[in-house]
Amino acid sequence: MGNKIHILNGPNLNLLGTREPDIYGSQTLQDIENLCQEKCDAHGLKLEFSQSNDEGALVDLIQASSNDASALIINAGAYTHTSIAIHDALKSLTIPIIEVHLSNIFARESFRHHSYISPLAKGVICGFGSQGYLMAIDAVAQ
Ligand code: DQA
Repeated sequence: MGNKIHILNGPNLNLLGTREPDIYGSQTLQDIENLCQEKCDAHGLKLEFSQSNDEGALVDLIQASSNDASALIINAGAYTHTSIAIHDALKSLTIPIIEVHLSNIFARESFRHHSYISPLAKGVICGFGSQGYLMAIDAVAQ
């Protein structure tokens, strides 16, 4: 367990930088990982940062996080709004979960207003772009 955190990113987040930059900004996922790594270093936390477009792979990564992580920060992308499998996997965790979204999902289409993750999360951060990931790491550190 100890001081390691997992940050998990879902589908299409590998396209950040070129994907709808008016909504998601111009930073790539690698840029965000670098910022998260710096923030974790500052807090003395170890970081495992992953992305998958595959729902089953995300379930596997969630399950694996219970082995060595003290918290899970997750941006499940569109699976946030659809995936009972990810909900169930998160439900089996005992570590705190923080849900992050780059955009303010409540200011967008109504199909983004429901999250299968929020009822299981200690907190939800959305609308602050990559800053939301850093806020989530600060919250974990505290
Ligand atoms: C997102 C919001 C989701 O609705 C969307 O499907 C994404 C990204 C965000 O970070 O704002 O892929 O999770």
